[in-house]
Amino acid sequence: MALLKIARMGHPVLWQKAAVVDDPDAPAVQRLVDHMIDTLADADGVGLAAPQVHVSKRIVLVHPDRTETGGSPDVLINPELVFVDDAMELGLEGCLSIPGLRGVVPRHARLTYRALNRQGQPIEGEALGFHARVLQHEVDHLDGVLYLNRMTDLSLLAFDSELKHLVAALQPAPGGHDREETS
Ligand code: NI
Repeated sequence: MALLKIARMGHPVLWQKAAVVDDPDAPAVQRLVDHMIDTLADADGVGLAAPQVHVSKRIVLVHPDRTETGGSPDVLINPELVFVDDAMELGLEGCLSIPGLRGVVPRHARLTYRALNRQGQPIEGEALGFHARVLQHEVDHLDGVLYLNRMTDLSLLAFDSELKHLVAALQPAPGGHDREETS
């Protein structure tokens, strides 16, 4: 087990566009993925992007159902997202690179994705709701975008200790938005 140091906001690697991975099955890439899996589990997170461990390559882990099912995260190399329609929803997000804060972020409600798995084989799928949110958050990291950049109302940014106020703001109004929570 190897734990990698997580880059915090302010480190330039988080603002860079990450490079395409040409050789997913290279030993160095496999080692990086193994270490990212260990690091994500240790941090109790639902997603991790390689730039968050100071490696500017297009690799993400997503594990939206970690708390329910355990198991292992999906490994997506060179992921691409396609938004199915314009439907957006609001949900809570946090980020291992921005510890202590949470914000309410608008995201596409559904999408399809394509990527390579860690063996370098093409995979594709569709995602809704929280799964779609985690994918958008992690792929944003590959383009130097943090969830703060996606927020449209910074009054909905709060310290963890003030989370109850955000949850209150997310209570669905008639015709309103779903509630989602991330970590
Ligand atoms: Ni993040």
